[in-house]
Amino acid sequence: MNGPGAEWGGGYVTDIAYLPGYYHHQSPLHLHLACLLGGVSGLVIAPKSPLSYLELGCGCGFGALALAASNPAWQVTGIDFSPAHIAAARELAAEAGISNARFIEADLADFADSDRADALPEADVITLHGLWSWVSEPVRAGIVRLLDRKLRPGGVAYVSYNALPGWQQAIGMQRLLREAGQRGAMRSDRQVEAGIEIVRALIEAGAHQLSGNQLVQTLLEHVDRGQLSYLAHEYMNAAWRPCFHADVVRDLAAAKLDWVASAELLENFSPLILGDQARAVMARFEDPVMRELVKDMSVSRCFRRDVFVRGARRLSDAERDAALGEVTLALLRSEAEFTWEMDVPAGRAAIERGFFGPIVAALADGPRRVCDLLALPGLPRRDNPGELVGVLVGTGQAMPLLASPREPDTHAQRFNSAAARRFVKPDNLNTGMALASSGTGAPLPCPMLDLFVAARMQACERPDPEGWASMLGSNQSPAEQQRLAAFIERLIAERAPLWRWLGCLAPNRP
Ligand SMILES: C[S@@+](CC[C@H](N)C(=O)[O-])C[C@H]1O[C@@H](n2cnc3c(N)ncnc32)[C@H](O)[C@@H]1O
Repeated sequence: MNGPGAEWGGGYVTDIAYLPGYYHHQSPLHLHLACLLGGVSGLVIAPKSPLSYLELGCGCGFGALALAASNPAWQVTGIDFSPAHIAAARELAAEAGISNARFIEADLADFADSDRADALPEADVITLHGLWSWVSEPVRAGIVRLLDRKLRPGGVAYVSYNALPGWQQAIGMQRLLREAGQRGAMRSDRQVEAGIEIVRALIEAGAHQLSGNQLVQTLLEHVDRGQLSYLAHEYMNAAWRPCFHADVVRDLAAAKLDWVASAELLENFSPLILGDQARAVMARFEDPVMRELVKDMSVSRCFRRDVFVRGARRLSDAERDAALGEVTLALLRSEAEFTWEMDVPAGRAAIERGFFGPIVAALADGPRRVCDLLALPGLPRRDNPGELVGVLVGTGQAMPLLASPREPDTHAQRFNSAAARRFVKPDNLNTGMALASSGTGAPLPCPMLDLFVAARMQACERPDPEGWASMLGSNQSPAEQQRLAAFIERLIAERAPLWRWLGCLAPNRP
């Protein structure tokens, strides 16, 4: 294994593999919604029509493969310079029988100028999650050249990064963790452990730069959960550097990209995240980049998920509302479980029952188009499809569908079983994963435990919550295992109908 300073890594952690995970913000359907909320044309995506999707820094490829398994007509490509990641991605693809995804081992610093890049098709969507603010200047420049060469006109890009000024109070924490870690150990996960010891010692000593900081708390929570591999990739890279939105926008303008929206949908609604006075200041500016700076100064936003279009085309309000009206939504929880409050920077905000009550009730019967929901009898107002989509999808209680679910197809189920075999461990049951679905355009986000339970249901004649709990919790006490069994039983009752309905799971056996 190469150490953290291995030459080919250029200062990026290369000695331990990154964790699998699914981030629904990278889904083309979700990005399409973000574009519409930003008032620009989104993607032209239809059931069974081809789409070319490219993920840069794809890690072990779980997200790219979940999209490929859910959309057999799409062509999915993942690029990463870690041979361990690419090998893992290719193995999972082979085990799941996925033929519409490929994985390329390449360094993004120079890939754009290579023959292999020439051979790639133009992409409709290019995403990079957890890459931009962790890699060096030459890698960022290579990414911009690749976006310039490979994102088609009108194509959509997604870039996430650690953001300033949100990170400014904790820049010292990262530096301390890395410098102390490097002096205390060799392998990067052990460096995290060594660095944390010093961070904790200085917290106890009342170090000014570490006190009362939410990001320090978050770091300690990750440590308590034992997420050393995540922490190594998050904090131990030489080029780690949070960025201002305006600087990312300027860098990506070299690839003719226009910033259009946040993929964190609720962030596109200023009244939800800013008070009246801050909004009055923001209203003085027409420039969207300046308006974002006002937002970033006013709220604690440490991580940004930005959506760009190569050649944004503005929509009139009527065109945007008509396009949003065509979106089909599926409810991800039962009406009884629906949460009528949402987290916003200012605290908790209520979701208006008078408007959303009938909509949620209608969605509980099955997916509906937004225009049909707005035509329901008894709604107090009908004029804001953006709010409807933003609140339901932005709170994670609904998701957009490309088409109504098809007959279950074996691509999705085979992928779900293979992923469960590879990734489920007793200590990672809360990791954010996804179940590939059948022809609906997007996988269903879920915790790792759901992946395990769905795969067990696929494999077994009848549910066995107690047996499954003991498989997962062999080192737990009997009482803890019983609690897990009860939780699995509830999960099956509440979630399995949705899994079957989205084609994540075969229909009930007769
Ligand atoms: C933090 S991980 C994120 C992985 C994945 N996108 C996710 O969110 O699960 C960053 C990934 O970028 C890859 N990477 C870093 N520098 C790279 C480079 N110069 N060229 C290609 N891949 C790179 C790493 O190997 C790693 O898999």
